Amino acid sequence: MLAGKRILLIIGGGIAAYKALELIRRLKERGAGVTPVLTRAAEEFVSPLSAGALAGVRAYRHLFDLTDEAEMGHIELSRAADLLVVAPATADLLAKMAGGHADDLASTLLLATDKRVLVAPAMNVRMWLHPATQRNIATLRADGVLFAGPNEGDMACGEFGPGRMAEPLEIVAAVEAALGGGPLAGRHVIVTSGPTHEPIDPVRYIANRSSGAQGRALAAALRDLGARVTFVTGPASVPPPPGISVVAVETAVEMDEAVAAALPADVAIFAAAVADWRVANARDAKIKKDGSGKPPALTFTENPDILARVAGLKAGRPALVVGFAAETDDVVAHATAKRLRKGCDWIVANDVRPATGIMGGAENAVTLITAGGAEDWPRLPKDEVARRLAARIAETLG
Ligand code: C5P
Repeated sequence: MLAGKRILLIIGGGIAAYKALELIRRLKERGAGVTPVLTRAAEEFVSPLSAGALAGVRAYRHLFDLTDEAEMGHIELSRAADLLVVAPATADLLAKMAGGHADDLASTLLLATDKRVLVAPAMNVRMWLHPATQRNIATLRADGVLFAGPNEGDMACGEFGPGRMAEPLEIVAAVEAALGGGPLAGRHVIVTSGPTHEPIDPVRYIANRSSGAQGRALAAALRDLGARVTFVTGPASVPPPPGISVVAVETAVEMDEAVAAALPADVAIFAAAVADWRVANARDAKIKKDGSGKPPALTFTENPDILARVAGLKAGRPALVVGFAAETDDVVAHATAKRLRKGCDWIVANDVRPATGIMGGAENAVTLITAGGAEDWPRLPKDEVARRLAARIAETLG
């Protein structure tokens, strides 16, 4: 999918630099040409020799490497590429990029390029969360820099949180999406995911057991096929995948507004477990026991049905609108009726009785309901269900 594409890979100085070697292999496997550039700090972690050997070309290190007339100049080097990838992108490299510094080969190439830049940040969680880093990231995003990760997880420094570099295959997927490969290239897909939280008072809310795992997997699978994904997510327990545009919301009303703002789209997939009701008399102050022994009375009002609203759009309706149906009995009958009631094209139905372990679990057994009928899929990991669904979507759009 990356045949003939030229990637200039800038390797920053972080412990994740070892993954850059694997990244070179994965990019090469897909037919890309990779020119590695190491910062001085990167050389403390990986050698230019290994990077160059894997890439099959010389790895560049210093500005002086380019002073030889026979060599490419730095302007040419940065413009001969189709995409610049920075992995790992350390806090220092991101700060240099945001500030427009050019005091070594890597930063000079990044300033001189007229091509898109994709960064895969990797740093300690405190450094990632530091306001200075967050400011730099906001600047870079506004400049059009693309991000792959970081992921959340255990870190080499012993801490846990966001800051782990995205895995090489996730970066490859982001590279493919950035270069417009894949059957869904040029398509915009909206995916809703996770539960919603409906406030009762400032400290309490009503929620459900959705983890957001199926929505996350779907967004990643669609991204991998080249789609531009807008991921509207409630407070899920799994982090969103890298390489997509994330809109974090809390309530159904916020989700509805975020979806409306993300339109138009070619496809809209509603994997979120949206609360049907919100508390009409939610309080601004914490509800306290008043000593009367009487519990407070909550009254409810209906939330907007986001799926039905988008499926029923007269103008600007996505070509394919997909809903999910979590059912505990008569799955196919209920989901078939729901497809018609909501006016969507497909319903992905699943049985969420506690005994199935599906809600919040790693696997899913779904039935795909279309105008043509019901199709039972075997029980599969949620990632695999997502890949099959994404492939089916690509096939349907043609
Ligand atoms: O009616 P029910 O909640 O079972 O429908 C499930 C489908 O409708 C899911 O795709 C869900 O994301 C979507 N939905 C929605 N807005 C709501 C309720 C459900 O988009 N308020």
